[in-house]
Amino acid sequence: MKKTILITGANKGIGLELVKRYCHSDNVIAVCRTSSIELDALPVSIHRDIDIRNNLSIKSLVNKINGQKIDLFLNVAGILSQEDIYDLDSAAIDRISDQFEVNALGPVKLVAAFLGDIVDGGKIIMITSRMGSVEDNTSGSRLGYRMSKAALNIASKSLSVDLRPRNISVGIIHPGAVQTDMTNNRGLITVVESVDMILERIKELSLNTSGVFFHASGEILPW
Ligand SMILES: NC(=O)c1ccc[n+]([C@@H]2O[C@H](COP(=O)([O-])OP(=O)(O)OC[C@H]3O[C@@H](n4cnc5c(N)ncnc54)[C@H](OP(=O)(O)O)[C@@H]3O)[C@@H](O)[C@H]2O)c1
Repeated sequence: MKKTILITGANKGIGLELVKRYCHSDNVIAVCRTSSIELDALPVSIHRDIDIRNNLSIKSLVNKINGQKIDLFLNVAGILSQEDIYDLDSAAIDRISDQFEVNALGPVKLVAAFLGDIVDGGKIIMITSRMGSVEDNTSGSRLGYRMSKAALNIASKSLSVDLRPRNISVGIIHPGAVQTDMTNNRGLITVVESVDMILERIKELSLNTSGVFFHASGEILPW
């Protein structure tokens, strides 16, 4: 039976590739700020003008979805910028706040808004980053990105505990260093290679592995 899958960040990068993979077998709700030619060409329902920082935006998305049940909720949208302690001017502080809004608060607000629509036994995926790992941090810097993804990780762990009574599993997945706009296409793997692995992790995800921090490769990452 077709599943209903909601995907944020659907216009490009990892999100777009996930839309491509699911759109021929399942009902995909593609969420973005601005669509793209590639997304427009796919057989999915596209919801534009959704900025995940914005509460009204999230509310309007909930209204548009109108109680449709969601089996798989993929939080992919994210931003990366650069701040370090030697150059923490007010613009850098603003960028840190923005990364919190998008990378940490955005996914949590979305899940909260759609909690009644996500089916019992469903799955929620948080595309996070190993840069949010405290133990793995040997290179420093990237303050806002690291802080925001660490916050997303701990929130995701909480959701995995809180949603267990409803048999909802939460996947916390680092996609690898991927060639997308975010990395100026300088990642180690292609979007196709990353999404191949992410799909395996989503398939495997169960209550037994809910709340575990995974590299898309299947390696368990340290907090
Ligand atoms: N690429 C990597 O190596 C890598 C490594 C670790 C983790 N990740 C994570 O993977 C996820 C996907 O990144 P990507 O590499 O595919 O980057 P990307 O190509 O830059 O895509 C980022 C997506 O997030 C969306 N987005 C940004 N701000 C948003 C907002 N305020 N509201 C709604 N959507 C917003 C973007 O939409 P717009 O086009 O409208 O900006 C875009 O669709 C992110 O969470 C990222 O942190 C990536």
